[in-house]
Amino acid sequence: MWGTGNSRPHPARVGASGIEMTSVANSVVIKPARSVSGSITLPGDKSISHRYAMLAAIASGASHFSNFSTGADCASTLHCMRALGCVVTQEGNGEVEVIGGDRLLEPPAAALDCGNSGSTMRMLSGILAGQPFASELRGDESLSRRPMQRVIVPLEMMGARVASQQGKPPLRIHGGALRAIDYHLPVASAQVKSAVLLAGLFADGETWVEEPLPTRDHTELALRAFGVRTARQRARVGVAGGQPLRGIDAKIPGDISSATFFLCAAGLFPESNLVIDNLLLNPTRAVVLDVLAAMGVRTAFLDVEDRHGELAGMIRVQPGKLAGAVIDGAATAAVIDELPVLAAIAPFTENGVEIRDARELRVKETDRIAGVAHNLKAMGAEVVEREDGLFVPGGQRLHGASLDSFGDHRIAMAFAVAALRAEGETEIKGADAACISFPEFFEVLAAITQG
Ligand code: S3P
Repeated sequence: MWGTGNSRPHPARVGASGIEMTSVANSVVIKPARSVSGSITLPGDKSISHRYAMLAAIASGASHFSNFSTGADCASTLHCMRALGCVVTQEGNGEVEVIGGDRLLEPPAAALDCGNSGSTMRMLSGILAGQPFASELRGDESLSRRPMQRVIVPLEMMGARVASQQGKPPLRIHGGALRAIDYHLPVASAQVKSAVLLAGLFADGETWVEEPLPTRDHTELALRAFGVRTARQRARVGVAGGQPLRGIDAKIPGDISSATFFLCAAGLFPESNLVIDNLLLNPTRAVVLDVLAAMGVRTAFLDVEDRHGELAGMIRVQPGKLAGAVIDGAATAAVIDELPVLAAIAPFTENGVEIRDARELRVKETDRIAGVAHNLKAMGAEVVEREDGLFVPGGQRLHGASLDSFGDHRIAMAFAVAALRAEGETEIKGADAACISFPEFFEVLAAITQG
C-alpha cells in the first residue's frame, strides 16, 4: 500500500457513526457520541517498526515482519533502507521482508528523504555515522525545523563529521571508523539514546549511554533480538562494537500510542466497552495505562506474551468517573506522545489535568503545547499555557468548532476524540496528518463509535 512513504492518502471513507470525511480541504467532521465499544487490533507499533527495519538492514540474512506499522513515518524508514541498497519487499496486511547487508550498506545515489519522521533521521544518523561513505538526510518542512544538535554532538564525539544548518536538517554525515564513548544524555530522548547505541555497533570498544530519566527501551530489546549483547547498569546501557546481527521473524504488537486515542475516547463514556488485542504492553510504554488508571480509566489485562522481549496482550477498558491527574517528571517523559490526547480530554475530568516538565512537547512535529491550547480554547475551554506544560481545569463543557491539525498527526487524532463529547459538530482541517502514524484512524474511530 505504501511505496515511498512520503505521499499521504485519504485517511477515511465517509463513515457511519457520526464521523464524516469531506473531500473539501481534507477535513473530517465529528459529531457527538454516546459510547465507544467494540473489539479491535491495531497496526504495529511505530517505534518498534522503525527499529526492526533499521536493524534488519544491517543484519545478515532475511528478516520477516508481520503487522508492520502502516504509517508514513515507517514507510520513510523503509524507503531510506531501500535507497541504502537493501531489498525491501512490502505486501498488504503489514507483511515486510528486509534482506540485510551484514553491517554494510551502500552509498545512496541521492539525499535520503526522511519525510516527517524524526525517528528516521535521528536513529539512522547513528548507523550512517558508522558506514564508510557520506550521506545526506533531509526532511519535510516540519522535520527541517527540529533540533538535531542532540545527535550531532555525540556522533561527532565518536569521530563522525556531521554538517547541518545550525543544528537543523539537512544533515550531511561523513561516516567511518568510530570510537566508543561514555555519554550522558542532556535530554531524556530514546531517539538520541538509540542513535548513540546504533553508532556504538560500529565503534572500537564499549559505548555507554546514561539517561536522565527512563525512556522507551525498544532499541535495547531489538538489539538483543537480533543477537547483539547489551549491558545495563542502573540508568546506563552499553554495547560493544563489532558484533554481528542476525535477521529475525517477528509479529509486531499494536501501537500503544495509537491505542491511547481509543482508550481516552472510551473513557469519556461510562457505557463504553472496548477490547484491544495484540497490543504492545512494554512497561516503558504502558506507563500511559497507569496515568489513565489514575484519571479513572482502568484497563484489565486478559492475556500477555513475550515476543523478542516485547510484551503484547489483550486489554479491556473499564471506564469509571474521570477524575483528573498531575503528570510530571518521569511520567511526563514516559507518556510524551500521549500528552496531546490526555490534555484534550482534560476538560471532561472532574479535577482537571496538570502537565509539567513537558518542554520537549514544544519541539515535536509541531509545538504541541501551543497547538493543544489553541484548539481547546477554540472549543470554549479555559486553559493555562505554561512554558513547559499546561493546566486544563476540569468540569468544563466544550462546543464544536472548526479546528486545525497544524499538520500534526497527534493533534488531528486528539481533537477527534475531544469532539466526541463536545456539543455540536467539530471540523478538523488537515485531518490526513493522521496518516503519519495511523492512516486507518478515522475508519476505526467510526467503527467503534456509537452516536
Ligand atoms: C520515539 C521517541 C520519542 C517520541 C517519538 C518516538 C522513539 O522522541 O516522542 O515519537 O521511537 O524513540 P524523543 O526521543 O525525541 O523523546
